[in-house]
Amino acid sequence: MRWLITGGLGFIGSNFIRLALRERPELQIVNLDAMTYAGNPANLRDVEADARYRFVHGDICDPAAVAAAIGDGVDAIVNFAAETHVDRSILDPEQFLRTDILGTHVLLEAVRERGIARYLQVSTDEVYGDVHAGESVESDPLRPRSPYSASKAGGDLQVLAYRTTYGAPVLITRGSNTYGPYQYPEKLIPLFATNLIDDQSVPVYGDGLQIRDWMHVEDHARGIMHVLEHGELGEIYNIGGGNPRTNLEITRLLLDGFARSFETHVRHVADRAGHDRRYAIDTAKARALGWSPRVEFEQGIRETIAWYRENEAWWRPLKSGEFLEYYKRQYAHR
Ligand code: TYD
Repeated sequence: MRWLITGGLGFIGSNFIRLALRERPELQIVNLDAMTYAGNPANLRDVEADARYRFVHGDICDPAAVAAAIGDGVDAIVNFAAETHVDRSILDPEQFLRTDILGTHVLLEAVRERGIARYLQVSTDEVYGDVHAGESVESDPLRPRSPYSASKAGGDLQVLAYRTTYGAPVLITRGSNTYGPYQYPEKLIPLFATNLIDDQSVPVYGDGLQIRDWMHVEDHARGIMHVLEHGELGEIYNIGGGNPRTNLEITRLLLDGFARSFETHVRHVADRAGHDRRYAIDTAKARALGWSPRVEFEQGIRETIAWYRENEAWWRPLKSGEFLEYYKRQYAHR
């Protein structure tokens, strides 16, 4: 078995590769990654020397790079490559359309031309849009509201169109908010954790009562692998941790973890434009397939806090250079 993983130097992709190599001894992995700001070779230092792992530097928007990564063939493609940060998509949408829609198209063309047996698109619960009540099911209409989620929805629609039009062997997973080791420190949990390690304040958007469903990255990676191996072609599977929390609840958990107080370390800042209040997904379909999340949330957060404490050498270089520019642009005048 040989799988092509795209975006394997990112947060969820690198955790997926580590899990897959550990649990599937016969598996070979090719990792095609563009090494954008979020694609970090340090995420996979521990597997670089594994003879079953091959890295290819390239962009999924480039058909020649995709062809080079496929080489003389792969049994499956799992597409993790994406621009993912909502706030960056508000500042600068174009790259999101390119990677998340056009990049998906280039991969789907390769699936068609090379007759690849399985293609899994890693998507997000954000494509359902703001969910006021109840839980999104896979057949719900897509109502994305940010440039990021609209780009991911565009990718999903391309995947489904290739199923309908060409009978392409596709699967889609829609994951909930993910946390854990190796997450780039622009996202809520690693940003707040690393700020608190440095005794800095944490910027809470608006009233902080927005709700997300949180899942540990290992559960997410397991869910994707389960759907890849057992999912029914043409189907979509929601994957979520079943841990709905407000941003204020997350903030308090992190403040407690670092023994900091709300009064001294929370900075209330202007809300994100078009901020979705709530995401919630029904995961019965993935559970019926035999997957369920294993990591208890408070335990997962404790371990994640410990990981960021112990891996300063990993995240500190990321919070310099380009990141500081971004942080200023995003937060300085808020
Ligand atoms: P984020 O990690 O950006 O994921 P997403 O927006 O894709 O769900 O943000 C999670 C939530 O935390 C979201 O409601 C926005 C909020 N948030 C803050 O309040 N402050 C911040 O500095 C960041 C990055 C996020």
